Amino acid sequence: MQERLDEKTAIVTGSGQGIGRAVALRLAREGANVVVADINTQTAGQAADEIRTVGRRALTCRIDISNINEIQAMVDRTVTEFGGIDILVNVAGVAQTGLFLDLTEQQWDRVIDTNLKGTTFCVQAVGRQMISQVPEDVRAAGCADRSFGKIVNFSSISGRHGRAEQVPYAASKAAIISVTQSAALAFAPYNINVNAVCPGVVPTPMWEQIERDRGRISGRAPGESLKWFVERTPLKRAGSVEDVAGVVAFLCSPDSDYMTGQTLNVDGGFEMT
Ligand SMILES: NC(=O)c1ccc[n+]([C@@H]2O[C@H](COP(=O)([O-])OP(=O)(O)OC[C@H]3O[C@@H](n4cnc5c(N)ncnc54)[C@H](O)[C@@H]3O)[C@@H](O)[C@H]2O)c1
Repeated sequence: MQERLDEKTAIVTGSGQGIGRAVALRLAREGANVVVADINTQTAGQAADEIRTVGRRALTCRIDISNINEIQAMVDRTVTEFGGIDILVNVAGVAQTGLFLDLTEQQWDRVIDTNLKGTTFCVQAVGRQMISQVPEDVRAAGCADRSFGKIVNFSSISGRHGRAEQVPYAASKAAIISVTQSAALAFAPYNINVNAVCPGVVPTPMWEQIERDRGRISGRAPGESLKWFVERTPLKRAGSVEDVAGVVAFLCSPDSDYMTGQTLNVDGGFEMT
């Protein structure tokens, strides 16, 4: 059976665990060969093995996205292995939870360098490669009836409003919405689509860490933050990694060819309330 992403090559950063891993697997199930790009080689290797079990090719790439030189090396390896890049999903990110008055420069730099700088320069390096793959006649025309690349960035509902206990995280995620719009405008002449998602609360290793940190700074019991979120969510449950992966797959597919510069909330309606 023909799949939506047959013959496509996708890079998914942060795909060793959590939401990124589910995204990598979903894209593979839809036909893509996947580069599992993560700072953790062990989890990345396991995710790549899982992708191979669904019959797709997988390449493990150890990368720290906050290091620009490593980003170019990831692009070069992917092109050497697969011949080009059709899809980039920028999932890799780190959270930091603490009081505004206790925030340090080191904490700020770690979150901004990973989430904002890393995402931005992955978009730039992969965007450059995608543009080089666009046929000359399409470049001359400045438009086409199909997409020549899909980029999906990870913001968060924390990027929609300020967060007293997640200052650099919320700032980085708000800025990713802006970078998504800027890249969408810059790449539109090449018919490369750039969109983003804002997940709500999704239980993953990152979320478990946030719960622990909130417990430490304000005495909240484990699970209390999740309960608070679910009670205020119209759909009355937390998100699953598959909920998010399904929306990302849509944004990587021809079904979203006429969308660019958009950021979709995947949050059970939380941001509406
Ligand atoms: N889990 C949630 O509730 C939630 C909500 C909103 C947004 N998000 C966003 O979704 C994305 C995935 O979140 P998650 O919960 O799966 O997180 P996670 O911590 O479980 O997984 C993140 C992955 O990114 C990798 N990573 C971290 N720093 C890296 C770096 N410098 N270079 C390369 N890889 C790196 C980690 O090794 C890990 O595999 C993040 O961008 C996060 O901000 C998550």
